[in-house]
Amino acid sequence: MQETNFAEETLDPSNWDATRALAHRMVDDAIDHLRGVRDRPLWQEMPLSARAAFDGVLPQVPQPLDAVYSDITAHLMPHPMGNIHPRFWMWYMGAGNFTGALGDFLAAIDGSNLGAGNMAAAQLDRQVTRWIREMVGFPEGASGTLVNGGSMANIIGLMAARNAMAGVDLRQEGVDAMPQPLRFYASDQVHSCHHKAMNLLGLGKKSLCKIPSDDAFRMDIGALKAQIRADRDQGIKPACVIATAGTTNTGSIDDLSAIADLCAAEGLWMHIDGCIGALIVLAPRHRHLVTGIDRADSLALDLHKGLQAPFDVGCTLVRDRRQHRITFAEDAEYLQKMSRGIAAAEFLHDYSLDTTRGFRALKIWMMIKEHGAQKFGRLIDQGIAQAQYLTGLIADQPLLDQMAPTVIDIVCFRFNPGGRDEAALRELNTEIMLRMQETGVAAVSDTTVKGRHCLRVAICNHRTRRMDLDLLVQEVLRIGSDLLATPIAAASGGR
Ligand SMILES: Cc1ncc(COP(=O)(O)O)c(C=O)c1O
Repeated sequence: MQETNFAEETLDPSNWDATRALAHRMVDDAIDHLRGVRDRPLWQEMPLSARAAFDGVLPQVPQPLDAVYSDITAHLMPHPMGNIHPRFWMWYMGAGNFTGALGDFLAAIDGSNLGAGNMAAAQLDRQVTRWIREMVGFPEGASGTLVNGGSMANIIGLMAARNAMAGVDLRQEGVDAMPQPLRFYASDQVHSCHHKAMNLLGLGKKSLCKIPSDDAFRMDIGALKAQIRADRDQGIKPACVIATAGTTNTGSIDDLSAIADLCAAEGLWMHIDGCIGALIVLAPRHRHLVTGIDRADSLALDLHKGLQAPFDVGCTLVRDRRQHRITFAEDAEYLQKMSRGIAAAEFLHDYSLDTTRGFRALKIWMMIKEHGAQKFGRLIDQGIAQAQYLTGLIADQPLLDQMAPTVIDIVCFRFNPGGRDEAALRELNTEIMLRMQETGVAAVSDTTVKGRHCLRVAICNHRTRRMDLDLLVQEVLRIGSDLLATPIAAASGGR
């Protein structure tokens, strides 16, 4: 017999008033946490007790939410990555902001699944992608989709490019049916996510041809033309040029207009990886650097970088909405569009790989409405001005070498006391970088440009002030001098 008298549960709080009080405390703590960020070390190694807090077995029985929250205040919040700190310039990421955090919270409270549906959240999402389209000057008919970040934004654009250029119905027939192998082109400075894209798209990394960059780390257009010609002669089909607006290593920006002209002349798809630099288009003093960005067939942007939104949110724009849609849209009997009701709207998942989609748009919408697009442009100008300021500080120090031209908000330099080979300089600068991280004073990363190792400062951080960059230079010189006095092996006991 069917049981009718079973117990029923819910995840809703059993005491809403107590939950309200705890939630208010969380918001108060969050504000204190952000307000005091400058006064704390940027990063610190986790003690064993903190590691152990995240090592327990699967909880089976309930515990009060305030006990759960105590674990967070004790063990999580004191050990962040550090990127919300004013002196985090390590990987090019973004420092987040409070309004964006509120947006994520409210998005979860609204709870909508943005994959499909006829509701305010989907309407708001469409408005955000329209605003982004407007920012970069893409035409009105262009489509856009919010994704989890730059890597996925590139994958979406490159998938549209692949399907448009394949010469067969790739969705139906697969890559084996392509009459000719496809070739994509990018400079040797291209981000590694494009390798992942080639892998995912079934083309293989060999399909991404790396064109040498010039002394300014920009794609050599002459070499690109020669490669396209040589590939055609070999029966390979040139499909797409991936231009980078803001390379990860040095911030260089490919000649977007020249690449757009070439793609138009050769009948190629132009994709721009604008994860670092696309939104310079908002910056009144530097927007000329990205002239031509509006000519791409597809464009990948990173809103957690350029707009400093909390992770994670990126965006792909595609000039040809139809091509974008036919690359991704699928029909399913359980997901049918209706003329009325909850399914009476175009499905947003028809423009990306996922089906369920979070409400990333809300944080962006709130931030843009609160500050206005112009402020984001000024912040980007500010970061570039700070990078130029740091470049000036480096030029004034005989023990520091600038390693690449400063174009945007990325600065490459190294401590160089002279008389050391590349390996010794790498060891010295790596140790400087690690000591700054370990003492929690500042975080920079390292990279290798044209075969030479250096420190890399990526100022994608709205909290940075010039005095922070003064301190960085002082610390590099201080640690560098200490290391000259007490060599690394001796100082670290041979570590
Ligand atoms: C030029 C470029 N493209 C793509 C990406 C990948 O973006 P995400 O880390 O948001 O996936 C990055 C990351 O820094 C980047 O610098």
